[in-house]
Amino acid sequence: MSDVISYSTSGPVAILRIQNPPVNALSQAVRQGLSEAMDRAEADVEIKAVLIVGEGRAFIAGADITEFGKPPMEPNLPDLCTRIEASPLVVIASMHGVTLGGGLEVALGAHYRIAQPTARVGLPEVHLGLLPGAGGTQRLPRLTGAEKAIEAVTSGRQIKADEAREMGIIDKIEEGDPQEVGVAYAMDLISSGAPRRAISEMAAPSSIDWDATYDGVMKKGRGQISGGAGVRAVQAASELSFADGMAAERKLFTEMLASDQSKGMIHAFFNERAVSNLPELKGVAPRALQSIGVIGGGTMGAGIATAALLAQMEVVLIETGEAQAAAARGRIEGSLSGALKRGKISQSQHDALVTSALTVAVNYDSLSTVDLVIEAVFEDMAVKKEVFGKLDAVCKPGAILASNTSYLDVDEIAAATSRPADVIGLHFFSPAHIMKLLEVVVADKTAIDVVATGFELGKRLGKISVRAGVCDGFIGNRILAHYRTAADHMVLDGASPYQIDRALTDFGFAMGPFAVADLAGLDIGWMTRKRKAAGRHPDERVPTYIDKLCEEGHFGRKTGEGYYLYEAGSHASVPNPKIPVLIADEQAALEITPRDFSDEEIVTRYMCAMVNEAAKVVEEGIARRPADVDMVLLFGYGFPRFRGGPLKWADLQGLDKVLANIERFAQEDAWFWKPSALLEQLVTSGRSFDDLNRAQAK
Ligand code: CAA
Ligand code: NAI
Repeated sequence: MSDVISYSTSGPVAILRIQNPPVNALSQAVRQGLSEAMDRAEADVEIKAVLIVGEGRAFIAGADITEFGKPPMEPNLPDLCTRIEASPLVVIASMHGVTLGGGLEVALGAHYRIAQPTARVGLPEVHLGLLPGAGGTQRLPRLTGAEKAIEAVTSGRQIKADEAREMGIIDKIEEGDPQEVGVAYAMDLISSGAPRRAISEMAAPSSIDWDATYDGVMKKGRGQISGGAGVRAVQAASELSFADGMAAERKLFTEMLASDQSKGMIHAFFNERAVSNLPELKGVAPRALQSIGVIGGGTMGAGIATAALLAQMEVVLIETGEAQAAAARGRIEGSLSGALKRGKISQSQHDALVTSALTVAVNYDSLSTVDLVIEAVFEDMAVKKEVFGKLDAVCKPGAILASNTSYLDVDEIAAATSRPADVIGLHFFSPAHIMKLLEVVVADKTAIDVVATGFELGKRLGKISVRAGVCDGFIGNRILAHYRTAADHMVLDGASPYQIDRALTDFGFAMGPFAVADLAGLDIGWMTRKRKAAGRHPDERVPTYIDKLCEEGHFGRKTGEGYYLYEAGSHASVPNPKIPVLIADEQAALEITPRDFSDEEIVTRYMCAMVNEAAKVVEEGIARRPADVDMVLLFGYGFPRFRGGPLKWADLQGLDKVLANIERFAQEDAWFWKPSALLEQLVTSGRSFDDLNRAQAK
């Protein structure tokens, strides 16, 4: 009767089996098929119960996200859930894999729920900038009470079967084939004369302090609004009739669906998956990846080694001397203990990783058998070339030689070897075993299977891998350098670093740029300014007030003093009183009269600088697509996910508006604010960055 719903019977039980791979999303065809199958079961006098079950890896992973933003198609999901619940037959959902979002709402429309011990349920809509829109916020609190329902709706977390049973969401857990255990449960219910049990007819949840709960959720969301909407929907379940509560939920859902925040988060959902699917890698087999070498066990090398160990790879790490080797081992063991404490690994796994999977040595000979080496030594071309020369001599043919350099030219590094086709950049982010981003930097001569292996490594390490071309800073650091400069210019012109940090955290960034600079170490920027000093354009404005702090040996958080002062052993910080003095001295020397900046102007300038440079990165082919840049900023630079990324933000603002701002700023500083040609072309042709994403996806 339907391609996606198969209908069969087992005695008095009608079985509705959802077959919509890969995750049984509730597309229009599934909704219609379920509705028709319910009609058919109800029309058959022999049938006493209906079992809904999913085929494949999940019961139902939720609404079909690809339908969001398109005109609604009947039957809608809330009506389907109500229709299932209103059935005169006893309806049972048998769940396995994940049951998420609209999937859980369908299950809550059923009268009884049975699940596999490994099943997980949840309402993850908040991660898409939404709230449950098919009765989830009305039915769930009638089972669990308001507080637990709010926690589920606002965290979006996946709840394991045993916890879900304790919460009252699942009635029974039984291992076996979901259809078989479901039919057996249905037969038991029929023979015991179990009644229909509609959650909508259960008592409304008791009242809690709604405003305090709402405020707490909004504060935690750092600008994201859908969590707060979820609280208000559960409040409606407590205060209104079921039907009015459903209408209130629908209104909030529709508002969220129309918001820029859900557009940003849905963009993130699809592109974090799409970014690593390169058409040119289809059918290209990656090289072997069992053991890896890491050169340098400092901040990055130790983090990369930890990430590889946690992914069950063997690691050989090379340091310059015994003391450095011991320090590197200490760093890795510290991170592995952290993973043990967080429950990521068991004690026996931890011990095996420390004793047998990790080798720390001072001799390059131990690298002769590894499949891939990642160099993470000092950011100095001469040192890197020397290391690659040695690797070339010792590594087996076909071994991949990768650099974790932040800025340096990977083509030049490759040229220091006799096998440039085997050389690639693998740019991790600190802390490397935690941060999700990996830039796979493809040099001129990198072989395609080496690129495929870079992506394969990213996948094994659980990273979001993004292809980048060679340029100073690749995708992320190049764009960072530019928007950081815009922030520095604002400081010279009168905005304080503390106002800028606050305006940008209010916008949704995890941290402001000056707090980030303190965390990364002010010496990095200082060294970069020195490195670039010779080649500067005469019109380039380069603030130097912070170099004076560096000259005194203050490098930010690690030395206790930077833009902020840090108390030893605490995360607390206060503005450094030296900074306004240093800024005032530089303003006086440059004859600048400081002016006031509104928070809005700060955000506009910062974002326009980011967008303009990001557009140039796409225009030059350094990034494959605008969405790739968005994923780099989201997963490596604390960009608020609910804004989708800088180029999604630009699309939502309107590119003509963004370009007009850039042109206005260019009147003050034509060198820094030169508009991207790609941005100009898009505005002229009335297209968006998302149009480019779509064109590339075809
Ligand atoms: N709609 C459409 N497509 C979906 C989907 C959904 N709800 N969930 C997953 N997919 C697609 C993915 O885009 C991916 O497609 P590609 O292979 O083309 O990239 C494919 O299914 C497989 O997904 P994953 O690679 O993510 O597979 P996984 O096994 O790692 O994870 C999952 C599976 C846990 C279900 C994960 O995909 C997920 O979290 N999905 C989203 C779940 C969700 O947010 N549901 C709520 C939807 S909103 C809702 O339901 C609103 C409402 O109440 C009305
Ligand atoms: P670090 O100074 O903490 O560590 C470098 C380590 O390399 C030191 O332990 C040193 O003893 C070792 N080393 C130096 N020469 C060596 C050699 N010839 N053989 C073996 N070991 C050698 O530096 P960090 O921060 O780990 O940076 C390393 C690389 O990673 C640099 O290229 C840097 O640009 C890059 N990077 C740094 C990031 C960060 O946030 N710190 C982020 C991403 C990349």
